[in-house]
Amino acid sequence: MTANTNTATSSSDTPNEITLLQPDDWHIHLRDGEALATTVAHAANSFNRVICMPNLVPPVKTASDAIAYRQRILDALTQADITKQRKDEFNPRMTLYFTDNTSATDIKNAAESGIVQAVKLYPAGATTNSADGVTDLKHCTQALEAMQKYGLPLLVHSEVTHAHVDIFDREKQFVDSTLGQIVRDYPELKIVVEHITTSDAADFVLAQGDNVAATITPQHLLFNRNHMLVGGIKPHFYCLPILKKATHQARLLEVATSGNRKFFLGTDSAPHATHKKENACGCAGCYSANIALPLYATAFDSVGKIDRLEGFASIFGAEFYGLPLNTSHITLHKQPMTIASSYPYMDGSTLTPLSAGETLPWSIKA
Ligand code: NCD
Ligand code: ZN
Repeated sequence: MTANTNTATSSSDTPNEITLLQPDDWHIHLRDGEALATTVAHAANSFNRVICMPNLVPPVKTASDAIAYRQRILDALTQADITKQRKDEFNPRMTLYFTDNTSATDIKNAAESGIVQAVKLYPAGATTNSADGVTDLKHCTQALEAMQKYGLPLLVHSEVTHAHVDIFDREKQFVDSTLGQIVRDYPELKIVVEHITTSDAADFVLAQGDNVAATITPQHLLFNRNHMLVGGIKPHFYCLPILKKATHQARLLEVATSGNRKFFLGTDSAPHATHKKENACGCAGCYSANIALPLYATAFDSVGKIDRLEGFASIFGAEFYGLPLNTSHITLHKQPMTIASSYPYMDGSTLTPLSAGETLPWSIKA
């Protein structure tokens, strides 16, 4: 199986090369400590701004936690084996982890820090390291009001956590039960529905004003649950929200390549050591940081829309966050690239990327 096994065919008049403004990644997990030696170089090779998720252990709860975490990322950057230009352009933007105790003062300090770009809401128990997340939105009123006031966006992991709800229905249920209510209660709040996986989430976002947007991962554009479950269970496709049916995949590909400014790049690259994924109780998360651009190019090209990649990857996210566009460029070309089977990772382990060992039709031009 190759990564470009979409039903749609590649258009014959697709260019063989495309130059984009340097992309940004609006949702990435870099982790901490030794992991940064692998993840920071990979992210910085492709992206200028990256929004760093706060689900560390312990989580990034305050502006001072975020400032300290950013410094650890920058320290790893100085050690990275990448060009000076990539080091100079890489700009980690930080997030706070929303808890039941996040206060209006925490939000004010974050907004004034100059480095906190958003606040991430994990419903408690929804995903990796979300145990300290929000148990009930009734605890969040003052913080959400402050975010609305300071223009600090809310990034939402949009899944309910009730044990009785089927894992494939958890995003739709959250959209139906909670997202609409947040938008009604905080009409000026900027909201990113993160890593959307269903047509229901896409349609919800389309129905809202300009203050509501969504990120989409490469795995949800390229794959569906059959890739994960047919012919043997493939743990490297397991992430949350979980891959859905092919019909949802097709709808995500449609909105991502539509040119609609509400949909932009967020890899959700989420490293877990190989042995923690190839496990009787495997961790959730797909690692894609260094191959994300060829993966997205493959997805866009699969529907003949490679010309729409630049808006999605390099323009719409910056516009949503009110940041200037990047000025440097990156070129992708139709030169096949075989993805590594693994990378060295922390504590002598390895890290297996999404589509390890597969060959993609697109690669980054040196
Ligand atoms: C992420 C992780 O590993 O931190 N995992 C995932 O499956 N996406 C957490 C998250 O974004 O849900
Ligand atoms: Zn994530």
